[in-house]
Amino acid sequence: MVRAIYPGSFDPVTNGHLDIIERSSRVADELIVGVLNNRAKSPLFSVEERVKILEEVTKKFSNVRIKSFTGLLVEFAKECEAHVIVRGLRAISDFEYELQMAQTNRIMSPNLDTMFLTTSLEYAYLSSTTVKEVAEFGGDISAFVPSLVEKRIKERISQGLKK
Ligand code: PNS
Repeated sequence: MVRAIYPGSFDPVTNGHLDIIERSSRVADELIVGVLNNRAKSPLFSVEERVKILEEVTKKFSNVRIKSFTGLLVEFAKECEAHVIVRGLRAISDFEYELQMAQTNRIMSPNLDTMFLTTSLEYAYLSSTTVKEVAEFGGDISAFVPSLVEKRIKERISQGLKK
């Protein structure tokens, strides 16, 4: 049985993330989406909100679970008894950072492998940061995120980007 973790900030989850979730949930028997609770950053959505949103938009995938984590990814993987990490690669610019993370994680936890999926072409340009910027300036983000996320971002922005 292959249990994999797809870790990330997911602030917010985009259609690009969902594409990776859908495709990796077909490869793994069980996929845990790990939402990083990074106290150093000030996210648009709290970790609890990001988990809730992810639960909602992935509910059609029966083998996908959402969990938050703090600290090292390798420790979270151990806790979950997962031996595979899934990451999406959009472009060559992602490669250096991703390779560094994968190699470091593998040195810390030799039985943990990182599996890369190339992002579908229509999402190759997409990032959570871009989505937030477009939304902040009143642009249309409906092609980039699920409708629930679009709604939540609009609400958050109308509250003056307060958490
Ligand atoms: O969506 P992101 O922000 O690109 O995801 C990055 C993430 C969460 C996968 C990465 O920052 C991470 O694994 N953080 C946990 C801390 C950790 O283990 N750092 C060492 C990795 S080399």
